[in-house]
Amino acid sequence: MDSISVIPLIITALLLYISVGAVRRLYFSRISHVPGPKLAALTYLYQRYWDVWPCSGQFMFHTIELHKRYGPIVRVGPDEVHIDDASFYSECYPSSIIRRRDKSPLQFGWYQGTGEFSDGSSFSTLANQLHRSRRAGIAPFFSKQMVRDLEPRVKDKVLRLRAALLRHSKAIHKEEQLVDMNNAMSALTMDVISEYAFGRSIGALDRPDLAKPYNDALRESMKIHPFGRAFPALARNLIYLPQWITNHSPLLVASEGFQNIVKDLSTKAFADAHNTDTRGKRTVLHSILQSPEVPESEKTFPRINAEGVILFGAGTETTGRTLAITILHILADPSIHARLLEELRPLIPSYQAPLPPVSQLEALPFLTAVINEGLRMGHGACGRLSRIAPDENLVFPNGLKGPVIIPAGTTFSQSSYLIHTNQEIYPDPFNFRPERFLSSENATDAENEAVNRAKANLVPFGRGTRACVGLNLAYSELYLPWLQ
Ligand code: HEM
Repeated sequence: MDSISVIPLIITALLLYISVGAVRRLYFSRISHVPGPKLAALTYLYQRYWDVWPCSGQFMFHTIELHKRYGPIVRVGPDEVHIDDASFYSECYPSSIIRRRDKSPLQFGWYQGTGEFSDGSSFSTLANQLHRSRRAGIAPFFSKQMVRDLEPRVKDKVLRLRAALLRHSKAIHKEEQLVDMNNAMSALTMDVISEYAFGRSIGALDRPDLAKPYNDALRESMKIHPFGRAFPALARNLIYLPQWITNHSPLLVASEGFQNIVKDLSTKAFADAHNTDTRGKRTVLHSILQSPEVPESEKTFPRINAEGVILFGAGTETTGRTLAITILHILADPSIHARLLEELRPLIPSYQAPLPPVSQLEALPFLTAVINEGLRMGHGACGRLSRIAPDENLVFPNGLKGPVIIPAGTTFSQSSYLIHTNQEIYPDPFNFRPERFLSSENATDAENEAVNRAKANLVPFGRGTRACVGLNLAYSELYLPWLQ
């Protein structure tokens, strides 16, 4: 057979293969019954269009349009559905360890093989069982009791923030510039997580630029994630390219800069953690290395460094951004500002007064409502959190045409952004209204019910066995900075 007659044969075989694959995905897939755009059912390139190119990071917003068109459950990929229904959130993310949930490789698979970048961290672990033992290594360090015991570490940083803001406002006064509060708040959270978890602050608050280059590096390096999901093998290899090549990409330079900051912290903390004398300097690495639930084979530097990368990244931008957005809304509304000051003043009557404990602040109803509203509008981790139920079919009861089965093994997700901007749960969702979280003695039953609904559906930290491990630390960071 000459080459001329082979080419049409290859093309025909290819077209046949694609056509059979397309028919199979459209009509014989295990989720063919779920409504959604045909193109999304055919190929994940549909998601890439919105998330990578030509649009960037827009897929979550696009799901809002899809839900308007197709209802509360939509097929968003060949083997993936997205749900917008707060009443189904606990089914997606249950707390019971019997109801296993794996993270989906579609969203988190690309981390596997990235080495110290984050492979081996609790966050990136796919399988439920392995995740449990890894999380057991870090969770005790972030328990409510531990956060309470180590509260002085957070308070010290809050006082440094106060000093830094005073310094900056004086300098700015002279130069007629503005202070970037997003950067200042991230400098606070960066110093807190490095001091709290690694026993050494990176000193962001003491730097004249409040470590803006570090913050920029961290923010910029986040952009690799949609790309990593779209082209996992390529993204993994990009991380290992020689420096003379990566120097040409601001994204890779940022990513590498961030890796180096954390590696330095982890290297020192790893050495300290082998030192048995831990007085006053206990770090999260002690917690991992001394955990009986973490096997010895898991107590290696690369894995522990990966845990550090995630803690540093997850502990900085999320809380920093939430604080900055809360400040913005407080300053924009004099009535909220005045009411907050009125509630706080008795606790901190003078500039010299010591900061009260977080437990005392948690009892303040208006401050708590402000923080809840800040968490709702801060959208710290707003994208879809993809899961797989490996051994149960889920039944979504509220499909447009009746119950919809989500077969075991299918990837499914919800996004807190959609829940937190749901008009029925949070009327007027794009306005900052702390009172939606405030109960009052003379409220009607309907008003009380609305407040309870608002509280029950607030899910900034996710829910279930994979929910945020750092939420107690995050709350202490969210409660303390107002006392300035
Ligand atoms: C307002 C602040 C924060 C928000 C909104 C937030 C949100 C979240 C969410 C939604 C998840 C679940 C991710 C998923 O299911 O894939 C998560 C996980 C995680 N967060 Fe946070 N977080 C915050 C602060 C922190 C802090 C301060 C730390 C530092 C200790 C932290 C460390 C982590 C870690 C390690 C995980 C992975 C847990 C696991 O997979 O077991 N977060 N966070």
